[in-house]
Amino acid sequence: MAEALKIGIAGLGTVGAATIRILTAAHNELAARAGRPIEIVAVSARSKGRDRGVDLGPYRWYDDPAAMAADPEVRLVVELMGGSEGAAKEAIEAALSLGKPVVTANKALLAAHGPALAALAEMNGTTIAFEAAAAGGIPVIKALREALVGNRISRVSGILNGTCNYILSRMEAEGLDFAACLKAAQELGYAEADPTFDVEGYDTAHKLALLTALAFGTEVDGDAVYVEGISGVTPLDLDMAEELGFRIKLLGVAERTPQGIEQRVHPTFVSRQSQLSSVMGVTNAVAIEADPVGTITLVGPGAGGGATASAVVGDIVDIARGNLVATFGRPSGELEKPIRAPMQRHEGGYYIRLSVLDRPGAAAIIATRMAERGISLESILQKGRDARRNANGSVPVILITYATTELLIRNAVAAIAEDGVLDGPPQVIRIER
Ligand code: HSE
Repeated sequence: MAEALKIGIAGLGTVGAATIRILTAAHNELAARAGRPIEIVAVSARSKGRDRGVDLGPYRWYDDPAAMAADPEVRLVVELMGGSEGAAKEAIEAALSLGKPVVTANKALLAAHGPALAALAEMNGTTIAFEAAAAGGIPVIKALREALVGNRISRVSGILNGTCNYILSRMEAEGLDFAACLKAAQELGYAEADPTFDVEGYDTAHKLALLTALAFGTEVDGDAVYVEGISGVTPLDLDMAEELGFRIKLLGVAERTPQGIEQRVHPTFVSRQSQLSSVMGVTNAVAIEADPVGTITLVGPGAGGGATASAVVGDIVDIARGNLVATFGRPSGELEKPIRAPMQRHEGGYYIRLSVLDRPGAAAIIATRMAERGISLESILQKGRDARRNANGSVPVILITYATTELLIRNAVAAIAEDGVLDGPPQVIRIER
């Protein structure tokens, strides 16, 4: 059997510990699959003393992950610390500069610095593997970077954050409030260290930016992603979605449009007939529309130690086998500069919930403002005074529009607010059929 691949792991949280467990428990099986043994020789984390349920005794300990990366015995660096700057970035740069491949789950770092890091890897004859950075255990990076290389991809959409899907699923099923569901997701080890990354959509945006680059052969353009999170979604919106035949999901969508590449993350009304709407709990799903293959939907666990470590180990074995694919699927110089499609020009249907003062003529004003902009309404729903009327005498009015543009919707909603018929901020949620 060939010489062992000796690796160092920086970051020993849920995913790091799960990775060590797999690499030790399945050592012989993995050696047979990779054609060579994989041996952990060094580890690094913030606190040496913490009990992680794994024996760190056999490995050299480093307080400094960049020093671990420079250890001459370490030939592959696994970075599981997270964070777009600082220690994770330094450790990865140290490894790449020495020509050592890197396996990482760090979507925030790659969304911010992907092009520069990919170029550094290439300059030193190595690569970055990041299957664990998007959709947890689903092998979507490999699908886009390798298996679908014969296709032209037009759209990638999906549920990319387990925490948000878990929260929305439990809010819907059990009528629990947002805070209780977030706490449960954190206890289960799904959430990021800073859970605002999850619930405000940034984690999804980071993952989407990586999928976009692979799907369209463009440089990662994390700043171009339009982002809205789920913290403003109310139980009333979930009730309305159900009544109208939808579910609310936090979707990430990247597509080629005539204006350029649209990248957006937002709560979305998804038809109950669609495959994505049935994906519940921490499960993630990614739908890839490609020619000639058609649509492929990958569904699986999107977060948690075991699922994410599965992706990490997949990457390590790939590298042990000598399968070093360019970080973003093609040489850095071949990646196109993406043309950004402005969100204002997004086209689609909309759910609009207005808190309307219950007086004659209010509905007529709303209909007029919509009609003035050529926005066609599929349905208008006013919920009964008794059940929904609040102390100010306002009632929820729900509008479902046919396809229109973001700009027109924003203008119409602003005009309605100026007419003085609302007593609260409007809720606008995009619809995907
Ligand atoms: N916090 C992420 C999620 C897990 O909830 O999906 C890793 O990406």
